[in-house]
Amino acid sequence: MTAEAGQRWTLRGAHTEYTVTVPAHGRWLELVAWGPHGVSDGPSPVAYDGPVPFLTAGDAAPIEYATDADRPFTGADLVIETVDGKRRVGFVHTDARIDAGQRELAVDFADPVTGLRATVHYLVPDGTDVVQRWVELTNDGTAPLRVVRAGSGGFCVPTPHGALLSHQWGQWSQEFQLSHVELGHGTFGIGSSQGVPGHLHVPWLAVRDTADPAGPAWGMALAWTGSWEISAERDTGGLTRVRAGRQLVDGPLELAVGERLSLPVVTGAYSPDGLDGLAQVWHTHQRLLAGDRLTPRPVLYNSWEATYFAVEAESQLALARIAAELGVETFVVDDGWFVGRNDDTAGLGDWTPDPAKFPAGFDTFIAEVRALGLNFGLWVEPECVNPKSTLYAEHPDWVYVVDGRPLTPVRNQYLLDLGRPEVAEFVHSTVDGLLRRYDIDYLKWDFNRPRTEPGRPGGVGPLDLDGAHVANLHRIYERLRRDHPDVLIEACAGGGGRTDLAMAARADVFWPSDNTGPLDRLAIQYGFLHANAPHLLSSWVTDAPGLFDPRPRTLAFRFVLAMAGVLGIGADIRAWTPAERAEAADWIARYKEIRDVVTRGEVHLIGGPDQARCAVQYTAPDERRVVVLAWHTGRLDGAGLLPSRPVRLPLRGLDPAARYSDGDRHYSGSHLAAVGLPVRWSATHDADLIVLTRD
Ligand code: DGJ
Repeated sequence: MTAEAGQRWTLRGAHTEYTVTVPAHGRWLELVAWGPHGVSDGPSPVAYDGPVPFLTAGDAAPIEYATDADRPFTGADLVIETVDGKRRVGFVHTDARIDAGQRELAVDFADPVTGLRATVHYLVPDGTDVVQRWVELTNDGTAPLRVVRAGSGGFCVPTPHGALLSHQWGQWSQEFQLSHVELGHGTFGIGSSQGVPGHLHVPWLAVRDTADPAGPAWGMALAWTGSWEISAERDTGGLTRVRAGRQLVDGPLELAVGERLSLPVVTGAYSPDGLDGLAQVWHTHQRLLAGDRLTPRPVLYNSWEATYFAVEAESQLALARIAAELGVETFVVDDGWFVGRNDDTAGLGDWTPDPAKFPAGFDTFIAEVRALGLNFGLWVEPECVNPKSTLYAEHPDWVYVVDGRPLTPVRNQYLLDLGRPEVAEFVHSTVDGLLRRYDIDYLKWDFNRPRTEPGRPGGVGPLDLDGAHVANLHRIYERLRRDHPDVLIEACAGGGGRTDLAMAARADVFWPSDNTGPLDRLAIQYGFLHANAPHLLSSWVTDAPGLFDPRPRTLAFRFVLAMAGVLGIGADIRAWTPAERAEAADWIARYKEIRDVVTRGEVHLIGGPDQARCAVQYTAPDERRVVVLAWHTGRLDGAGLLPSRPVRLPLRGLDPAARYSDGDRHYSGSHLAAVGLPVRWSATHDADLIVLTRD
């Protein structure tokens, strides 16, 4: 198809459509409408052809991918510089292709001055309401170019009454804190310059109109495992434009003559049903990203909090024996199993089991764990190295460094320059070698420091260190999954520092936080589930009062909380009483009965961690079973003494005419939606798992 003025294309999702057009002038691509099927049939809610005094038309237009020539004042997605320092790229539309199913679109542009070509790609994965977008830049000119800003795209959202932005902030041990900001005018921005998505912000944003928070919601999430930025700007005409893309922490990217650069995928999501509906759109997308690896995850035991670095065969086996009795399926040995690793000051890089800790051999140890009927999992952090290690002694030049400057240790460790082929080879062969050498079913891949040094020995530059690190990380994950399809991989970065859509496509589960304190964890998981599906949510039952949260909650609370995703235990179960072990075994058995619904069910987030109502509802795909996990968020003292009525949890998405039963309690779907499922809390009953069956 050749370029034609005024042409428009509609991408169709399961329930949504996304329509774009190239205006008659042919300089850019514009959004027409994004919403439910049929939304494009009417005047565009984002188009603008009025006056733009002291601005340009492009500054007010709903441009999909804007250069600095298009939007000189209100924020461009792409800024290019020539070798002699000239900026401004002005595109001309040249071509476009859409498939018959209206799920894939590519729109081409070229800049006659620099020779830069850009293809703006769209893909709506089958059965979803997300649109994946990415841009490919090709230097078809005669001189190298510099990419100064490398946005992946802009999303335009009509917010006539004001923009209500939802985002997730945090820090180590306090990730995924869901927060809301009203944006009347101006800009809101989040990002990471850490070479990893980080704990401070999640590359995810939701936009609603302030007048209708339960109504239409638009979401954006970036699939990039390095440094990133997302901003939202609301103009005076009520249009909110969200820009998302890489943050070029190492300086501009070089685009040599003939070179092509693919920018990360940014994904948009739409739901007519507020944040709750939007979460389901993200869940559906991530379940499809998981493909045939979307299976109910095994119940695991992780020994980190029980033994920390004091790993050795005998105590691990003692834990494994009890874990097996409780019904655990995978036993994971965390940090501390390899030579030199007695604390966090040494050992990283030397990935050989410590013979002093496993005197009969690591093979024998694993065989003994497996003989208990357990699968075996192992922790690694292969991108990092302690200065006190053989690896560092042999390859001090493998870490990121700025020549002549001191290195910055974080947690006593340095970061390997994964972008270098020999380092990538080392990292891949280390992990691959462990998986081949030992009988391993589960890998926890950790990452405990950000990148600080923007350089490599010799100072050759400019270098896209971030891009090279991320590309090789992704390649290694992909190779490992291809070559070891039965090994599940848990992605961890000191908790939830590495969760983005690119990792959701490559890892099987995320460790969202080191904080397993019940009420803190509730808030973390509540935020997490707004952006991520339950199969990605690894959660452990740990000991009370735990590391972070001394507020008392029962063992039941901890179990029901960990059952909201992938159930694990991280407590020192050697110290558990027979009664606690019996209770744990019971919860684990119950989890096994419901985990397929948790994995594949439609999720509704009811209330919240700071409300009297707090629950997650999972409705099985065939709607025969509805699993409700509920928690008491308030004080425990005095509860139930005063006249009090039960908390009611209004369930969603049920057939009002259907009847649902929980033992001898029966409810209509209408009652459950309008009045809600009753739960009554007391000092000893602060959480519940309720399974409703449709009659
Ligand atoms: C940080 C992780 O988040 C923890 O779960 C644990 O694996 C430690 N690292 C081990 O050093």
